[in-house]
Amino acid sequence: MILIIDFGSQYNQLIARRVRESHVYCRIEPPGIDLDLVRKINPEGIILSGGPSSIYEPTSPKMDPAVFELGIPVLGICYGMQFMVDALGGSVIKAGKREYGLAALTITDREPLFRALEPTTPCWMSHGDSIAQLPPGFSVTATTANTPVAAAQDVERRLYGLQFHPEVAHTPRGKNILRAFLFDVCGCRRTWTMKSFAADAVAEIRATVGPKKVILGLSGGVDSSVAALLLQRAVGRQLTCIFVDNGLLRLDEAEKLKTLFKEHLQITIRFVPAGKKFLDALKGVTDPEKKRKIIGRVFMEVFEAEALKIADAEFLGQGTLYPDVIESVSAFGGPSAVIKSHHNVGGLPKKMKLKLVEPLRYLFKDEVRQLGKTLGLPEAMIWRQPFPGPGLAIRVIGEVTASRLRLLREVDAVLLEEIRSNGYYRKLWQSFAVLLPLKSVGIMGDQRTYENIVAIRAVTSKDAMTADWARLPHRLLGTISNRIINEIRGVNRVVYDISSKPPSTIEWE
Ligand code: XMP
Repeated sequence: MILIIDFGSQYNQLIARRVRESHVYCRIEPPGIDLDLVRKINPEGIILSGGPSSIYEPTSPKMDPAVFELGIPVLGICYGMQFMVDALGGSVIKAGKREYGLAALTITDREPLFRALEPTTPCWMSHGDSIAQLPPGFSVTATTANTPVAAAQDVERRLYGLQFHPEVAHTPRGKNILRAFLFDVCGCRRTWTMKSFAADAVAEIRATVGPKKVILGLSGGVDSSVAALLLQRAVGRQLTCIFVDNGLLRLDEAEKLKTLFKEHLQITIRFVPAGKKFLDALKGVTDPEKKRKIIGRVFMEVFEAEALKIADAEFLGQGTLYPDVIESVSAFGGPSAVIKSHHNVGGLPKKMKLKLVEPLRYLFKDEVRQLGKTLGLPEAMIWRQPFPGPGLAIRVIGEVTASRLRLLREVDAVLLEEIRSNGYYRKLWQSFAVLLPLKSVGIMGDQRTYENIVAIRAVTSKDAMTADWARLPHRLLGTISNRIINEIRGVNRVVYDISSKPPSTIEWE
């Protein structure tokens, strides 16, 4: 396994992705990690990530420099390299010229990291500081026009530094460099697969949970579903899932989930119909954040009441993923500014002293999907588009009422049917309808109408952090609009949302 030290780079998750794509397990830890823990983890290699700081600033993040004496190979990337150089007696200064973007890397020593590379290759630079002097024992292995020390190493001590970012796609041969480090330098083996992960996770869950009972809140999303399957494999009937039907789901969704979980996956599950409770609590509320808070609170109340019925449960399973874990331990701590309070379904039932089991906490989303496949989750579930916890309540703009929810559900079903049958469902990150609190004039037959407006939102995205509106064919948009207006009473106008994120968000509320 490889240990990645997070100095705050926006790319540190990418480093982890690259390592895992090579079938080597890795973990990201903050610079403050105790070296005793590092010894205990006993990684084959350590990668020091980049970061936004300057090493000579007093507040810049540092780790115990004794890390270089453990005899474990270390690869420092960008700030990580500068930290290594500084810690071992070299010097780093403000660069005469900031180097940002593509540069041509000229390799002067191919062994061992660059052995698969041509003498010059493109690399991605992003730094304002440069290495002025290398520590004793180090030599330069590559340069660029603006950066005389673009890579350096001390082969004897197995310490390597790269000023550029091998983890990003703009460094096309970056994968080869990282693989040379993993396999040739560290001697890692390709043992990280979802099958091996599942086996290890099952053993670990059994060891943690023993004969005790586990509760898990199922939402129908891929994360909680995969967590449920894994827990079920580990502890079988000691697991009870709770599904709170908040009445804010898409058409027929609750029923479909019920059949799938109960009949196909044989999971012990309690369905709690609570739509009315949610609607009552949302009465008269139009502010999006208030809606989220109310939904979060009611969910907790309903969940807790149900969980309390399960005698002597000691554990709460959660489908927390690695990006959330990393975010909360990142070197620069503090979650980024709250734009929308998303984690509405998080939190522990307070009355119960439950301990958390989070079997997916070291996985990325695509790994969770692979794991789901390994565990037998149907394709349709694995590839479900994300659906927000507050559900349709944040897609009925303005007050949420039973009749407006019903209207939106029908519209949304038509939209999804067209998106699916035209082969766009999996190509899109999300596609959905939004019911606006506006009416507009129309004409149907010879009659003047004054009815609702519906907006269609379809976006492409990799991780929901940024998104682009989907360039759906006009023909398909035309069909969607015609079908909605003709088939659904109460809508006489359909508009298509052509805003990207940022500055817009994916959801309208
Ligand atoms: P935005 O609208 O912020 O959404 O661009 C980014 C992603 O998060 C989903 N989303 C939510 N998920 N609770 C959730 O569980 C929420 O309150 C919530 N709000 C937005 C949204 O669907 C998109 O995938």
